[in-house]
Amino acid sequence: MSNESGGAGTERPPDDRRGAWSRYWARGASHSCLGTYGDLYGGAIAAFWGPVFAVLPPVARVLDVATGNGVLPRMLLACRHEPGVRCDAVDIAPVRPKWLGDLPATDRARVNVRGGVDALALPFADGVFDLVVSQYGIEYAPLDRAIAEVLRVRSPRGAIAMVLHHAQGQPAKVAALELEHLAWLQGEGGLLDATAAMLEPMARASTPQGRATLQGDAAANAGRERFNAVQNELAARGDGKEGADVLFEAREAAMSLLAIAGRQGARAAASALADYRADLAASETRLRDLREHALGAEEAQGLRDRLAAALGGPASLEELREEAGYLMGWALRANSAA
Ligand SMILES: C[S@@+](CC[C@H](N)C(=O)[O-])C[C@H]1O[C@@H](n2cnc3c(N)ncnc32)[C@H](O)[C@@H]1O
Repeated sequence: MSNESGGAGTERPPDDRRGAWSRYWARGASHSCLGTYGDLYGGAIAAFWGPVFAVLPPVARVLDVATGNGVLPRMLLACRHEPGVRCDAVDIAPVRPKWLGDLPATDRARVNVRGGVDALALPFADGVFDLVVSQYGIEYAPLDRAIAEVLRVRSPRGAIAMVLHHAQGQPAKVAALELEHLAWLQGEGGLLDATAAMLEPMARASTPQGRATLQGDAAANAGRERFNAVQNELAARGDGKEGADVLFEAREAAMSLLAIAGRQGARAAASALADYRADLAASETRLRDLREHALGAEEAQGLRDRLAAALGGPASLEELREEAGYLMGWALRANSAA
């Protein structure tokens, strides 16, 4: 959970976080809740942002803090077509959203996404934004200081709207389950160890001579048995359970690694495995970060009160729930006095 220094636990070094998110966004994900929503957010999240964007005047400057691959600017452009509605978007990771390249020139000119920008040092003048937004983003930074920056760049009549992680929310709950699975996958005797032991025998199995050597190879046979046992363990852990996607994706990744060993040899497969290990370690960093920075009720109410006092107008804080009952986060809005 967030506190003044940005986390109740040890604050993760920014480079660690930047690297973890860089790997994620570089793979082209459009946002960070792909398991729950499609390419763009729908449901309660889209229902929250629609009215926020709808009340902007026809000439307005919007800032999205911790934008990732820019899902909020994308939603803004889908809602508002006036050339005067423009959006700057920043993230600490070196993001380069691909969808920007598909925009018509008139829309492209309305969005400016910058990677490598910390929410604690926004590269904008004081008082320039009519609306500052963030979704599952600003709470990853030390919140007190990041909010001070948001207040600095907001224009005197500007508004603020945010979707924030909720400590009891579905993303935090699924993150806890996924962290357990990741620990097993990467731990001693888990899927990655079992896969590593299979790479050299799989490479040998690609030729008739190699296959012949495998027949009397006790170590290779033990490795294969272990690999099969781990597959059963994985199915028992995952089948029909929440948060199990990470297990099934890892199973597919293991199969691809064995195929690489067969086609390109053990060394190429070992290098791909090292890369995959780094991917899983980055996932762990992101999931831990999510859990550490999700806000409890007191923190969320404190933030609402702070924004209400700073802006002087109405402020609201609601729990954002999907129709199926899933709690997706806090929805916070603050407006300046009319
Ligand atoms: C869960 S993602 C959300 C991205 C996007 N808003 C969305 O809804 O898809 C969190 C993002 O916060 C970014 N982030 C974390 N700490 C940050 C900081 N101090 N300054 C700016 N961005 C930060 C990460 O790089 C990551 O892209």
